[in-house]
Amino acid sequence: MKPRLLFATTNAGKLRELRGLVGDAVEVLSLKELPSVPEPVEDGATFEENAEKKARGYAEATGLPALADDSGLCVDALGGRPGVLSARYAEGDDRARYEKLLSELKDVPEEQRTASFRCALCLALPGGLSHVEVGRCEGRIGHSPRGTHGFGYDPTFVLPHLAGRTMAELTPEEKAAISHRGEAFRKMKPHLLALLGARPVEG
Ligand code: IMP
Repeated sequence: MKPRLLFATTNAGKLRELRGLVGDAVEVLSLKELPSVPEPVEDGATFEENAEKKARGYAEATGLPALADDSGLCVDALGGRPGVLSARYAEGDDRARYEKLLSELKDVPEEQRTASFRCALCLALPGGLSHVEVGRCEGRIGHSPRGTHGFGYDPTFVLPHLAGRTMAELTPEEKAAISHRGEAFRKMKPHLLALLGARPVEG
């Protein structure tokens, strides 16, 4: 029988990315299949703390190995804000949040608009063992939104090393290859397969 893993997300995009990464070696369940499990509170000071808290909470509650991520945008001119509070930076939708960001940065000159997307990923086993990996993607905050792919702050996140395109102008494959989440997933893969006792898969 294949080892089972709970990925603590309801985000279909993240789930697809993880299933693609582990291939057939592991049966991946999401919170959609286990809706009654209570959600741990994300009140940590760092992405790593939040990811670990979530993964440990779900592993204990379900008895399954659990993988959880926490991510956000850190803007240098704002002292690292919105950071772990990225999802709650402004009331409303993604657009309300990136518009608030553009307005906070309206007088900040080009060379000081540096920012990074960060992701922490934690795998926790029911016995208490856990492993954390992080990923990071460097860029700049633009002056106006561009692009229709992705989510969150993607339309405002400019990638100077990709001809100044925004993250929302990349295809999902292009984004996965350079994103904070893609990097953390790729670093986690060997640990995931080893800890779950699954046979490695190609790719
Ligand atoms: P969570 O890790 O799913 O809780 O995401 C936290 C918040 O960070 C999201 O609601 C987005 O606002 C932001 N964020 C995280 N990753 C990305 C990304 O890849 N693109 C754009 N925004 C992101």
